[in-house]
Amino acid sequence: MNILVPGCGGFIGSHFVERMLARDGVTIVGWDAETSKISHLLDHPRLVLRQRLLKGPSAYEAFAADVENCDWLVNLAAICNPSQYNTEPLRTIYANFIDGYPIVELASQYKKPLIHYSTSEVYGRTLASYVSSEVYAAEDLYLMDAERTPMVMGPIQNQRWTYATAKQLLERLIYAYHKESGLDFAVIRPFNFFGPRMDYLPGIEGEGKPRVLAMFIAAVLQGRPMLLVDGGRAKRTITSIHDAIDALVAVIERREQSLNHFYNIGNPANEVSMRELAQAVRSAFARVTGEPRFLDHPTLDVDARAFYGDGYEDCDRRILDISAEQARLAWTPKRSLEQLLDETVGYYWQKYGERSRLRATG
Ligand code: UGA
Repeated sequence: MNILVPGCGGFIGSHFVERMLARDGVTIVGWDAETSKISHLLDHPRLVLRQRLLKGPSAYEAFAADVENCDWLVNLAAICNPSQYNTEPLRTIYANFIDGYPIVELASQYKKPLIHYSTSEVYGRTLASYVSSEVYAAEDLYLMDAERTPMVMGPIQNQRWTYATAKQLLERLIYAYHKESGLDFAVIRPFNFFGPRMDYLPGIEGEGKPRVLAMFIAAVLQGRPMLLVDGGRAKRTITSIHDAIDALVAVIERREQSLNHFYNIGNPANEVSMRELAQAVRSAFARVTGEPRFLDHPTLDVDARAFYGDGYEDCDRRILDISAEQARLAWTPKRSLEQLLDETVGYYWQKYGERSRLRATG
């Protein structure tokens, strides 16, 4: 089996490529300019890496030849970091819609099944947050169902929604190609996938504001308070990257049942507020290191506008219905929040714990 993976060097890509290369008979043709997360795989004989951007006529031609030769196209190329949606809106729209357009078009032209990574953010905010000031009285007002729930977003000036709307339009493009040209697809909407190699740790692996767990872990390792945006009220359902990859593998293995659907991939059992997540991160550090000092690691409340700038608007809550996904994919997410935090904190502690130890002792 030959799988073409634009965005193979990102967080999800690195775990998917690792998992698939462990199987005999699978070749990955990966496109990515950035390869640090897959550096341990670069010598693998069944990984063919195109270390370049999919931009310009010669890249397009080379990519088209790869599409023609593949059995599956798994599109992971995207910008998916909320701090960029309102500060770099043009880049966000280009990366998440315009750059994705030719990938969808070529999949349709060469009649290749396309698995496209979208986002849980296409749902926007919950209906409850608009109609009843966040009183989650009835499931219809908050539960996200992949084939039923409407998509609710703020005004254009709130540029947080550039990402969600670009992603939504690409989903609509895929569906239109399916209806008009017979494109086979699976659209996956991730619900807060966490694990080793996620994003980057600010101040250690790069500069900026990645997603929340990378922010929290970097803060603890560097002895800074974990920042709680607007008091850490917002809620998310947290998913282990390994459960997420299990679902992706199931889409490929159960092709007859899986194609031509939209999937919520997440773990409804792991719903937490960001304040609760900070507490869970403290506990994970204490468990992993055996050092109780982490239980008192401080948090600091920050205003969303001060943290993200103008045009940020938060998703209040993201809780998903996965009953259709479980039936179609014969898949169930298994890892608890505690397990996935222990794994992720353990991974970063092993890499960077020395810094924290030196600060504590010196
Ligand atoms: C992001 C992306 O936009 C989605 O593409 C993606 O599907 C989703 O993550 C995901 O991980 O699946 P979001 O959950 O809002 O959306 O991203 P985070 O940056 O992880 O923020 C989660 C919550 O934590 C927000 O309420 C945010 O304001 C808060 N936060 C973030 C903090 O309290 N402190 C921080 O340091 C960073």
